Amino acid sequence: MSGERVKSVALDVIILAAGLGTRMKSSTIKILHEAGGRPIVDYVLDLAAALSAATPVLVIGHQREAVKAHCGTRARYAVQEEQLGTGHAVMMGAAVLTAQGHAAPDVLVLSGDVPLTREDTLWELIDEHRRSGNSATILSMRLEEPAMYGRIIRDGSGQVLRIVEARDASAEEAGIHEVNGGIYVFSTEALLEALASLSSENAQGEYYLTDVIEIFRKGGGAVGAVIARDPVETLGVNSRSDLAMVEQELQQRKIQSLMEAGVTFRNPEATLVDTTVEIGRDTVVYPFVTLEGSTNIGERCVIEPGVHLRDVTVGNGVVIKTGTVAEDSVIEAGASVGPCAHLRPGTHLGPDVKIGNFVETKKATFQSGAKASHLSYIGDAEIGSNVNIGAGTITCNYDGVRKNKTTIEDGAFIGSDTQLIAPVTIGRGAYVGAGSTITKDVPAGSLALSRVPQKIIKDWAPRQKK
Ligand code: UD1
Ligand code: MG
Repeated sequence: MSGERVKSVALDVIILAAGLGTRMKSSTIKILHEAGGRPIVDYVLDLAAALSAATPVLVIGHQREAVKAHCGTRARYAVQEEQLGTGHAVMMGAAVLTAQGHAAPDVLVLSGDVPLTREDTLWELIDEHRRSGNSATILSMRLEEPAMYGRIIRDGSGQVLRIVEARDASAEEAGIHEVNGGIYVFSTEALLEALASLSSENAQGEYYLTDVIEIFRKGGGAVGAVIARDPVETLGVNSRSDLAMVEQELQQRKIQSLMEAGVTFRNPEATLVDTTVEIGRDTVVYPFVTLEGSTNIGERCVIEPGVHLRDVTVGNGVVIKTGTVAEDSVIEAGASVGPCAHLRPGTHLGPDVKIGNFVETKKATFQSGAKASHLSYIGDAEIGSNVNIGAGTITCNYDGVRKNKTTIEDGAFIGSDTQLIAPVTIGRGAYVGAGSTITKDVPAGSLALSRVPQKIIKDWAPRQKK
């Protein structure tokens, strides 16, 4: 269903995000902690963008500059100077809506720290709200252990009477298993009126948003609740273990959707894939693989155990062997990399390139069919097509001050154990003999050799022993 609905023009969104999240024990505000490769607030902003045509209002307080810098134009901002409670936070958000003069008839309130809500569930909530003509429709959940969540108190007819915060609940109320998920759709007009009469006379001395429910009922309004099918949808991130649960759920959802799109995971539970990663069909991913950031893998690839890719673009039919690490690189179709290769930022491997074990590359371009099969360092280099780089070749790119460039033109052959002292160019089709230290350009088609000629001293060993 997701994505099929058209964004609502009759809905505003307020996202509560002013709290620091003390239990995270962090110097970073909790909504900027990452799960699935993105700060958790991003998932909430995505939901707001999918549901409403209006830019959401983010209520900010702690670390507001960092939050603004991250969210940019994806939100409008309402500043809550002091965290006086969720009711007060919504007042600040609503003030931005009314100040800008075109508040929509309904407003959806989300929490910046609740990232797992499904779009379909929120459409259900919105539809129920519109169908019923409620003043408020709450997303609730049933929990075996209702813990510190607000309890939903219903009357005989099933209407919601009020929400009681755990700290303010009687023993009987505390035993209720239906709890407030902290996500609501309000009639904007009814909300604005009720907010004006909120008080902070409760166990925490805060303006509780939840108190508007009782105000609606007393004023003759109706309040309903939709129970989320899966309580994970209202899981809020308050601690590192909550964050780990969110991460696990995002991983599961991501890998499930990739499997549905035709990707094989030999052991899904032992694989980490950021929500931002894309993989083509018929690619096989082995266990203990970590795929992060903007990594985009083509079709029919094999990603062997222990591979770690971050921001890597991989073409079709590529094999990345065990233990390979790559970052900010491009690997074109048909290439083979590893085992245990290290592609550092700025590596670009053309079609059918082969990079073998214990080869490190950095800011290096390899044209099609080039090979560096064993134990080499290739940095700040341009390697032509079908070049063959022997084992133990090193581009000596750094003179202690500057990084210098090595160019190896098409079809050249670099013998094993060669040092190429950059800046240096090996011409098209040239040969460099094994064991050479190359300090001058090698013209196309020629042979360069710099090793000391071999000496033989006959019967040296037996004489030495005497
Ligand atoms: C709230 C609900 C509770 C519900 C729970 C669901 C109230 C009074 N209680 O409790 O019924 O079960 O959420 O998770 O609303 N925030 C601000 N400014 C503030 C206070 C909070 O922006 O002054 C933000 C927080 O950053 C957070 C959200 O509002 O994103 C919820 O606040 P939190 O303190 O976590 O409320 P709970 O006590 O969990
Ligand atoms: Mg909370």
